[in-house]
Amino acid sequence: MFDPVEKLKEFIRQPSISADPKAKAGMKGAQEFVAGLLDSLGFAVEVVKTDLHPIILARRAGDSSWPHVIIYGHYDVQPADPLNLWAPAPFDPTIRDGRIYGRGAADNKGPLMVHISAVARLLEENPRLPLKITFLIEGEEEMGSPSFGPFLEKYQDELRRADFVFLSDTGIPNEDQMVITAGLRGLALFDLEVTGAKGDLHSGLHGGVLRNPIQALAEICASLHTADGRVNVPGFYDDVLDVHPWEREELKKLGGDEKAYAAFLGIDAFYTPTGFPPFEAVRFLPTLEFNGIGGGYQGEGTKTVIPSKAFVKISCRLVPNQQPDKIKKLVMDAICARAPQGVKLEFIDQHKGDPYVVVPPGRSNTPKNQSAVLAQAFRATDAAVTAIWGRPPLYLREGGSIPIIADIKRVLGLDSVLLGLFLPEDNLHAPNESFKLSVMEKGIATSQRILAAVAAAGKR
Ligand code: BES
Ligand code: MN
Repeated sequence: MFDPVEKLKEFIRQPSISADPKAKAGMKGAQEFVAGLLDSLGFAVEVVKTDLHPIILARRAGDSSWPHVIIYGHYDVQPADPLNLWAPAPFDPTIRDGRIYGRGAADNKGPLMVHISAVARLLEENPRLPLKITFLIEGEEEMGSPSFGPFLEKYQDELRRADFVFLSDTGIPNEDQMVITAGLRGLALFDLEVTGAKGDLHSGLHGGVLRNPIQALAEICASLHTADGRVNVPGFYDDVLDVHPWEREELKKLGGDEKAYAAFLGIDAFYTPTGFPPFEAVRFLPTLEFNGIGGGYQGEGTKTVIPSKAFVKISCRLVPNQQPDKIKKLVMDAICARAPQGVKLEFIDQHKGDPYVVVPPGRSNTPKNQSAVLAQAFRATDAAVTAIWGRPPLYLREGGSIPIIADIKRVLGLDSVLLGLFLPEDNLHAPNESFKLSVMEKGIATSQRILAAVAAAGKR
């Protein structure tokens, strides 16, 4: 018998931190674990080499007249530090109070195991299920999926023939309210380095004659938002589209307690553009954030120095119709225009990702040419969620990003059905990440029902 929780424990034990060059063994372990698991379920597994971490492409043989679903997931995880805040250790999966703890438990090993388990149970019950299934499981999601674009180009002729993509790598507000994710934000990331003098200087010998690069950097950073929480970059909002009324209606149904949200975050005031409550801002608006800042002396005690350099890491979350390259240029131009005299700027480009929207069937802006199988998959998802969780799902955009979902749309022409599964308490990317076992169990039943219904409906 296939035991999803035992399998998930085994998966979490592999420290698959894609960004860490020292985690090679863990990456290989996780990749071999997934490949072996899919092989044991009867899939033909191809491990596709990339410059960094292989992509697992596992196919179930089938008839071309069957519906064809691609199930996406990622086997890599975020770094686990700060390690001292973990109890138990990040790669020692432990079950406590109905949750399984470990790095990657929610993002994305647990949700991926939900779909693998659903497929295992379905094929156990009906080995002749008329559904083509292709698993596409990558190991570079947490570092911006650098190999995924070239992979898609190479395999596009085969993969284009699928009908839709199915995955769980997004969230739900609570266990009583499931969400089918209707959009993801995009990303544009770069670093800025500010240089003053050609080397570090004694702040007594030279202090008072030059602009400190930390000060210059702080002035630049402080200029990038207005007092009312907007990004203060000319043109930044130009391509932001109005939200369709049905999306606001969905959000209204969610309700949402602002006080509780503030308490959950541990803040005493929100900072959002005027007219946008926090629950709208996080889904419908772009952002500019500082993810890290540094320069000068960071050690114990004091050091009287004027540092030569200071840096900041900047990321923008983008909403549909915004283009990462265009936004990067707008922000860099604004920064250059505001740079004080006496310092030099250097930009270090990082990765990026396009935003994504998918409109479920029956809405005012549903594409006329939406494929019948995709529409059926949405209906099947709605019905399965209603049956198993006792309430219909909401269709909401998500604040987070999965850039490859837009790449899949662009290169393969395929849309994604994103079944939300992680909870706000799951601590994604943070210490003591966990995944709720009741969500896992209901998720498996839901996925099983969806896939069975898609198979039963056939191609038309
Ligand atoms: N699963 C997340 C995306 C996500 C997070 C969706 C929260 C919904 C809610 C994914 O693994 C992730 O962390 N994506 C990164 C971007 C990536 C390019 C590093 C993100 O959103 O920061
Ligand atoms: Mn993640």
